[in-house]
Amino acid sequence: MCGIVGYNGKNSAIDVLLSGLKNLEYRGYDSAGIALIDKDINIIKSVGKIKNLEDKLDIDSLKKYNIGIAHTRWATHGEVNEENAHPHRVGKITLVHNGIIENADILRKELEEKDYKFNSNTDTEVIAALLDYNLEDDFLNTINKTLEQLKGSYALGIINENEKDKLYAVKKDSPLVIGLREDEVYFASDICAINMYTNEFIFLQEKDIAVITNDDDEVDVEVYNGNMREERYIDVIETDELTKSKNGYSHYMLKEINEQPIVLEKTLNKYLDDLDLIPDISDYEVIHIVACGSAMYAGMVAKYLFEEKAKKQVIVEVASEYRYRSINYDRKTLVILISQSGETADTIAAMRYAKEHGATTLAVVNVKTSTIAREADYKLFIEAGEEIAVATTKAYLLQVALLSLIALKLAHDKNLIEDINKYIEEFRLIPKLVKEVIDKEEVYKEIAQEIYERENSFFIGRKIDYAYCLEGSLKLKEVSYIHSEAYQAGELKHGTISLINQGMPVFGILTEKDIYEKTLSNVKEVASRGAKTIIITTNELKTDNDLEVVVPATSIFTQGLLVVPTLQLIAYYTALLRDCDIDKPKNLAKSVTVE
Ligand code: F6R
Repeated sequence: MCGIVGYNGKNSAIDVLLSGLKNLEYRGYDSAGIALIDKDINIIKSVGKIKNLEDKLDIDSLKKYNIGIAHTRWATHGEVNEENAHPHRVGKITLVHNGIIENADILRKELEEKDYKFNSNTDTEVIAALLDYNLEDDFLNTINKTLEQLKGSYALGIINENEKDKLYAVKKDSPLVIGLREDEVYFASDICAINMYTNEFIFLQEKDIAVITNDDDEVDVEVYNGNMREERYIDVIETDELTKSKNGYSHYMLKEINEQPIVLEKTLNKYLDDLDLIPDISDYEVIHIVACGSAMYAGMVAKYLFEEKAKKQVIVEVASEYRYRSINYDRKTLVILISQSGETADTIAAMRYAKEHGATTLAVVNVKTSTIAREADYKLFIEAGEEIAVATTKAYLLQVALLSLIALKLAHDKNLIEDINKYIEEFRLIPKLVKEVIDKEEVYKEIAQEIYERENSFFIGRKIDYAYCLEGSLKLKEVSYIHSEAYQAGELKHGTISLINQGMPVFGILTEKDIYEKTLSNVKEVASRGAKTIIITTNELKTDNDLEVVVPATSIFTQGLLVVPTLQLIAYYTALLRDCDIDKPKNLAKSVTVE
């Protein structure tokens, strides 16, 4: 997804902007650009990797600039080309933008009637034109007037050529953080672009306008909301330098899969040492779990645990649907939001919707400084550290781990569990068992070798095994580009089985004792129609299938933590054989900050 970096300081801007763009690369992008200003303005853009942009820059001649903005674009309006890449310049205004302006087409027509000509198809150029049209001596007024005319989401870095010593940073529904250091002010859409320079940050609030001025004496930042000057809290955040290195692994995805035992131990111990960190939610009559993608699939695992072990019915829904549904909150409702980044636009909107309607919100989140972490009523953090590979692995697993603990605590609070210590001991053993599962790489490579030339696959399972199928199937398709569908095993016969053909990989997940034989019959049904079946099961339910992954049998609370890493590794090794861009699959973005 798009990324923004800005610099206004006493030193050269170009290196900060380029290194910031590189740190934003993991989010996914298709073009990049930079604008630098002193007496003149210099805009350079290119399509493709940051390297292409660098090849166009004469770095030495650009060192004289102390003020600049830069951007990685992930196309939403208009195709991928240099005209559509940011920054966009109209009249006196040059800017970069994250987000989507919903009324851009209407504004564009109005501006065209006022003789503005557009060089791109973007909504961003419309903002630049509107600011230029509204331009008056007081630029704060200009911005406020313009914001009133915009519908949608935006984080903006703005240069006004009438004020060549200043940068403006503005946000609504799209994150923007300011970094502070003596003689230097930075801003970025993601803290990782600037956290190597400072540990002091201001997280801009909705419709904040930061004015960063570089005069003879100092570099100063003032924050306004409307025309009111605001004092914003300065957060001091230490970051882990090591997270960025691949630590000898060929991909971040593999590194992050291998980190799972360590981050599991960190997260689990925190809560196992003090289960009261998890609030008592037994009074809530209704529980909704809302998230997107893998985070929603972690919620699906939780649904089965809440229902089976804590006798609490749960509705799980994707945030992009939930936010637009008409939901009845007449009973005491808890809405659990799950998000690694804490910045997913739909999940944020769903949280706000639930809060506005009187529900209580609880966030399971990784990034502690994120919007969701700041706005939810209760927040429980997973300790994944930074996750760089676009496809989530360690964050998903920790979401499942923490949600399982929430289900365990709920079952305990409702007196539905006799011996909680038995489960606590099991949870403590899990990091070691996950490591043993991950270390069996030969079996995952063998399966990858068997399936990598196929273009279609299925994952089948029942109940909680179906929830693992959803994640396994998503992981395979997003990193290897093999089309894959997850199906409830019993549903296959109602149409989909007609797609089974010779050699098609079908993964059967069988960990639930009570239902295991039913799923096994479904696996045999597809095998007899030519499918190449791969079974993922436990040492207690072992079968005689040729391709089989066996993990230690544990209780339902922890079983998924051993099953899903096997699916992650099969996806990884399959993508490797298919020569895919594993850490940055095409068209995907790490943090989905637009609808
Ligand atoms: C898939 C994946 C995505 C995210 C989803 C939610 O591997 O990473 O499906 O899980 O975009 O992101 P967060 O958790 O940041 O809200």
